[in-house]
Amino acid sequence: MNNASLTSPSNDLWADWLLHRRFADDPVYTERVRIVVQGYIDRVLDHAHVAPDCCLLDVGAGEGSLGFRAIERFGAGVKLTLTDISEPMLHHARLLAEEKGIANQCRFVESSAESLSAINDASMDVISTRSVLAYVADKQAAFRAFSRVLKPGGRISIAEPIFQDEAFDTVILKNRADAQASLATESRDLGLILLHRWKSAQFPDTPEKLTQSAIANYSERDLLRLAVAEGFTQIHLELHIDVLPSIIQSWEVFIGASPHPWAPSLNTIMEEQFSFEERQHFEAMVRPSIEAGHPVSIDRMAYLSATKPF
Ligand SMILES: C[S@@+](CC[C@H](N)C(=O)[O-])C[C@H]1O[C@@H](n2cnc3c(N)ncnc32)[C@H](O)[C@@H]1O
Repeated sequence: MNNASLTSPSNDLWADWLLHRRFADDPVYTERVRIVVQGYIDRVLDHAHVAPDCCLLDVGAGEGSLGFRAIERFGAGVKLTLTDISEPMLHHARLLAEEKGIANQCRFVESSAESLSAINDASMDVISTRSVLAYVADKQAAFRAFSRVLKPGGRISIAEPIFQDEAFDTVILKNRADAQASLATESRDLGLILLHRWKSAQFPDTPEKLTQSAIANYSERDLLRLAVAEGFTQIHLELHIDVLPSIIQSWEVFIGASPHPWAPSLNTIMEEQFSFEERQHFEAMVRPSIEAGHPVSIDRMAYLSATKPF
């Protein structure tokens, strides 16, 4: 197996982010992110009730980490279907499955979470998904598709990031930055203006944009409401908020990593939207605290599990 084929750059947004931009192509940071993601995945599987011979659907499978971990935990009887809208990611996942010697248990299907059109009605025992609905505009359609393809008594177990607070903070930042416009140039807080320029390139900064944003226009309560609306029962929702020392410990990773697939990195934002002097000002303001290891990360993850009634 040629490992280079798994890691070569791709024009596909999802492959580019999943394999490169989220890690800033930094091996140490990559390993740290993978450990954090493994924790999310295991929590999803803890609530999935995967039986050793079940049909498991990993929606938006990406690299296949969730489904492959299920096979590792629950054994060779698990029949795994991996769906994704990214053909390069499905290809990548297939190569990984071959490397692991589990490809005979896996089916790779190009299909959107909203339709799951290639998956038969009532054919799955369990659907698990992680960090996928966040990017789906019509989340109700996805829950409807989950219900359609599940057998009666089947389970869903999902984990989705909650980015709403990042967007609320960015809306507040915009109001504060806009207020600077009424001040004389020499009295303006350039740091505040640059902070807003950075954050608004990654998250919506007005209530209108927030409403339109698939990643920011929902909360954990909306996920619950969607599951109820599709008739799921035995619904359990947990919101985990963890405030921890950031796993980013170098300036290069801080400016190189993108927080989500649709966000440019800070480095790209500075290259495209900051003058030389603005970049110097911003770096002098932020870099020392990053390199001193001060930053904290606030991680908000909603875990929802539910059963399709008989
Ligand atoms: C953030 S990644 C998560 C990947 C994987 N679930 C994991 O836990 O590592 C999002 C994945 O969802 C896929 N995706 C994005 N929009 C989708 C959609 N509408 N339907 C199905 N998959 C989608 C992307 O191609 C990508 O593989």
